[in-house]
Amino acid sequence: PKENGWMVKHLYQYESFWFSPAAIRGIKRVQECFNAQPTDFFLATFPKAGTTWFKALIFSITNRARFDFSSHPLLAKSPHDCIPFVESIIQDETSYRDYQISCSPCCLFATHIPYSLLPASVVSSGCKIVYVFRDTKDVFVSTWHYMIKIRPKELPSFPIEDAFDLFCKGVSHCGPFWDHVLDYWKASMENPNKILFIMYEDMKKDPILCLTKLAKFLDRPFTLEEEREGAVQEIARLCGFESLSSLKVNQTGVMHFNSIVVENRHFLRKGQVGDWKNHLTLEMAQLLDEITRQKFAGTSLIETLFV
Ligand code: A3P
Repeated sequence: PKENGWMVKHLYQYESFWFSPAAIRGIKRVQECFNAQPTDFFLATFPKAGTTWFKALIFSITNRARFDFSSHPLLAKSPHDCIPFVESIIQDETSYRDYQISCSPCCLFATHIPYSLLPASVVSSGCKIVYVFRDTKDVFVSTWHYMIKIRPKELPSFPIEDAFDLFCKGVSHCGPFWDHVLDYWKASMENPNKILFIMYEDMKKDPILCLTKLAKFLDRPFTLEEEREGAVQEIARLCGFESLSSLKVNQTGVMHFNSIVVENRHFLRKGQVGDWKNHLTLEMAQLLDEITRQKFAGTSLIETLFV
């Protein structure tokens, strides 16, 4: 695209997806150096689909035997410090090694890397992947807010209309959004025991049901006793938007992502379903829905998104 939006100037197309130069370096390094183990778990997401929330949930589920809720690491650490992005941690050999040792034998990683660019070992090791997806319109609105918060202040404004045109053309970090989702969806159809597709909106609507499903997939099903004692509800509460956004670490702390430093509070904006209604015109919403219907035609994603 010829547009001169800030995003385009800072994004480059690599293997048909759009990334920042730092992200491309990270992906190449992951492809060269990362060796997934069958016991690892991956959280894969398109940016702004709910990565922060699901990092908190997955960390809480898989570590629940180690911590009680009154002194839980999530009270003092950002979800991003509990589960690192593989494309970031791999850049620093010492942190990567230390992390592997600290969580052995089962390491949790997050990634925004599209399925087709994952290192071969992730697929061949058979490690499990949770893929979170979210309504296109809310992903776009969340992306736009995030962009205007983190972009350098000296740059001219970045109107939502410009961002929208670019997003529709597939130009956003890790975009096209639809290709990102579709590639993981196809892989999950071929390998349902290894890739779990889970929707942000479903977790919002019925956290207990979704958490139960997630825990089972992560090989940590809740016992009857845990269910009786309310452990599922406790995890949902601890990781909920109100809880995370009220913590000091998420209000004033920062996250280091390769060369970028981002304030943690920018990962917790509103946390609602349907905020797009406050930002998109009817035409914009219809156009995004139309593109989504076209791109996802013939897949069960259509029913999931449009019923
Ligand atoms: P909004 O901008 O719509 O509020 P990511 O973590 O992938 O960057 O996604 C960020 C989006 O997830 C933001 O959406 C953010 O508010 C939302 N989010 C973060 N934590 C959440 C939580 N605990 N519950 C619900 N939504 C959450």
